[in-house]
Amino acid sequence: MIFATHNPHKVFEVSLIMNLPKLNLQSLKDIGFTEEIIEDGTSFRENALRKVEALQSKGYASVIGEDSGLEVEYLKGEPGIYSARYSGEPVDHDRNISKLLSAMAGTDQRNARFTSCICLLFEDNIHYFEGYCNGKIDYQRTGSGGFGYDPVFIPEGYTESFAVLSDEQKSKISHRYKSFAALGNYLKDKI
Ligand code: IMP
Repeated sequence: MIFATHNPHKVFEVSLIMNLPKLNLQSLKDIGFTEEIIEDGTSFRENALRKVEALQSKGYASVIGEDSGLEVEYLKGEPGIYSARYSGEPVDHDRNISKLLSAMAGTDQRNARFTSCICLLFEDNIHYFEGYCNGKIDYQRTGSGGFGYDPVFIPEGYTESFAVLSDEQKSKISHRYKSFAALGNYLKDKI
């Protein structure tokens, strides 16, 4: 099965979550796929599907595509599908956080959530799996772990940001944990 990501670390991470010893999961790097996949959908689902379609069109029959991002209630769901490039190209996580904190200056409405949406192509069918992590956007950055918006995201039930929590703690409550656990559960009797 191909995981439509250029990041081999993500493959390692989600393999641990799914815990399917018989599953041989390969990244785009593993199969020598170097083309850029155009994510021009209007939702996480559509962009996850775009990733699957890019591989399906090359003849791959078992494919996982995932799209994720941060939705902020006060900003009516922004940055959403534009999370990675919120402050423009090239992707710069620190600049994205600065833009987010400026957009939320002066408000105490800090509710937000991370979404991970998986599109699976398997046995000629498309299936979707979603995972969410609710939380709040802090007023300033804390911590040095993680990536993306982790320094300003405080998950529900915690007082520290994702960037302060350990990788292990984050991985047990993250949106990606929930979506890939659901996918693993779906695949466990089928492979
Ligand atoms: P993707 O790689 O196209 O799914 O883009 C995801 C973007 O959403 C990342 O570049 C981050 O900006 C943001 N994001 C998704 N998941 C996380 C997370 O776990 N922590 C922090 N930021 C995240």
